[in-house]
Amino acid sequence: MKVGVFCVLLLACASARAQTPLIANAGGRQGLSLDGRWQTIIDPYENGFYDYRYQESPNGYFKNAKPKTPADLVEYDFDDSPQMYVPGDWNSQDERLLFYEGTVWYEKSFDYPKRPGARLFVHFGGANYETIVYLNGEKLGRHEGGFTPFDFEVTGRARERGNFLVVKVDNKRRRDAVPTLNTDWWNYGGLTRSVSLVEVPDTFVRDYFVQLKKGSREEVGGWVKLDGPAAANQAVTVEIPEAKIKETFKTDAEGLAQVSFKTRLDLWSPESPKLYRVRVSAGADAVEERIGFRSIETKGQDILLNGRPVFLRGISIHEESPLRGGRAFNDADARMLLGWAKELGCNFVRLAHYPHNEQMTRVADELGLMVWSEVPVYWTILWDNPETFANAKNQLGEMIARDRNRASVVLWSVANETPVSEPRNRFLRGLVEHARALDPTRLLTAANERHYADPTTQVVDDPLGEVLDVLGCNEYVGWYDGPPEKADRLSWKVTLEKPLVISEFGGDALAGRHGDKSERWTEEYQRDIYEHQIKMLRRIPSLRGMSPWILTDFRSPRRPLPRIQDFYNRKGLISNRGERKQAFYVLQSFYRELSKEGK
Ligand code: GCU
Repeated sequence: MKVGVFCVLLLACASARAQTPLIANAGGRQGLSLDGRWQTIIDPYENGFYDYRYQESPNGYFKNAKPKTPADLVEYDFDDSPQMYVPGDWNSQDERLLFYEGTVWYEKSFDYPKRPGARLFVHFGGANYETIVYLNGEKLGRHEGGFTPFDFEVTGRARERGNFLVVKVDNKRRRDAVPTLNTDWWNYGGLTRSVSLVEVPDTFVRDYFVQLKKGSREEVGGWVKLDGPAAANQAVTVEIPEAKIKETFKTDAEGLAQVSFKTRLDLWSPESPKLYRVRVSAGADAVEERIGFRSIETKGQDILLNGRPVFLRGISIHEESPLRGGRAFNDADARMLLGWAKELGCNFVRLAHYPHNEQMTRVADELGLMVWSEVPVYWTILWDNPETFANAKNQLGEMIARDRNRASVVLWSVANETPVSEPRNRFLRGLVEHARALDPTRLLTAANERHYADPTTQVVDDPLGEVLDVLGCNEYVGWYDGPPEKADRLSWKVTLEKPLVISEFGGDALAGRHGDKSERWTEEYQRDIYEHQIKMLRRIPSLRGMSPWILTDFRSPRRPLPRIQDFYNRKGLISNRGERKQAFYVLQSFYRELSKEGK
């Protein structure tokens, strides 16, 4: 396909897919949580959506119909159907659904007497994978992507009493989707994150970006976007009371105000994760949250946090609640996972392979952990498909929109282990460009692969590196690639003068399984991998960080080995029962060494 045509198609699809821009900091607004028990109907044949001719039915389950007379034929009944918790995946709530991939319908009834003149939105923190939302029998819209927030305006559609919200969630995998058909994580389905009603004044602060300007430690820059009839030429105020800051700016004809002011703030860092209460107000609306201010940039092979070189002592994490099982979604899950990372001695976490829930990045702000946040452009995506690109671009936009005010988030990652080709390069360069346009303050990266120039020389020269700030590289020397001691013989050739982060290495071990270190699946073997890896990584001149694979064992449909894996990837340093494996302590003492060296 000619490049010109491909770009035109890309842009066309991108505009067709655009959803209502997200409401920033939805959790900090007035409203009503709809979390709790929801009525559910499991619908593998999508009988509630299609008629017998497989046409979209005007009388689907979204009508929440009830027989009016004994003669009426209605073949479903939400009120009498099983309940499931929201937020929560269905796989871990009903053992019949552990492997289920398909549609589940959710229904929630609510009353909401809103203030006169106010506007009302229904907000979803995230739902996997394709979500269609109806209110009182009317379609509000559709969202695609399992890990980013979305909302729909329901002003004038919601009534004071007797509302019913019906949501069709379908986690079926598709070749053209993002992610595509094969992943090494469990395809948890459902309303996996919180659902709420958000009430705002007629003209309100829809979105804002308040961070230090790129490369500056004394100048705050950003913008405030108003939405509503009085959005144009309106005064907006940004306040940081603790720092005695109160600055007012004016919106333009589109309701956008550029924010810029000089100040001296205590900067956020892992050692001192300083957060300020920041208040953004305009007219009748005001919203506030805790925000940290820090600068992040690269210089040659160095990553500079607040102007000083920093080493990213990290660990990779999947969004799974280890002890409870299922998707992690609340504050307690985040504090457990990130608390364990702190115990390891980390100042950095790679949240793989998709944007984790908002609690994770907010708790990372608080605990002082730098974050790598990633969109699920994983393995072999359909690079030449404009729809797929528009979908990936949209998920990237939503990820950035939700977390652009999180000091902890220092890296946006656009991909993981994707095969080099021109269509792939074009696709990923497009995502990098989009991310830079949305957020010029953070670093761009991707978890790429390396290859051998000869049996002992590994080369990192992925062409995508040209447009990235930080080179991410996954390698499994000692597990998929030779025995652990092979690492002792290897050297690294990194062609670009940029910081390198080893975004994955590791090996499987079943907690409590012991034996000779040459015996796979034992803690001794995993420990041996870490010991050889650490020696090898110390020899790489441009290494500025690492996030070994992975903090805890996690569910994977690709891991059936009985009595060892049992559908778990066992590369965790901590088991799914919370047991620390020997390698946990190897990495912990290495990170202690590094922090003693000021790294
Ligand atoms: C890959 C991939 C991970 C996967 C890991 C493994 O590198 O990025 O998602 O789980 O290897 O094989 O354990």
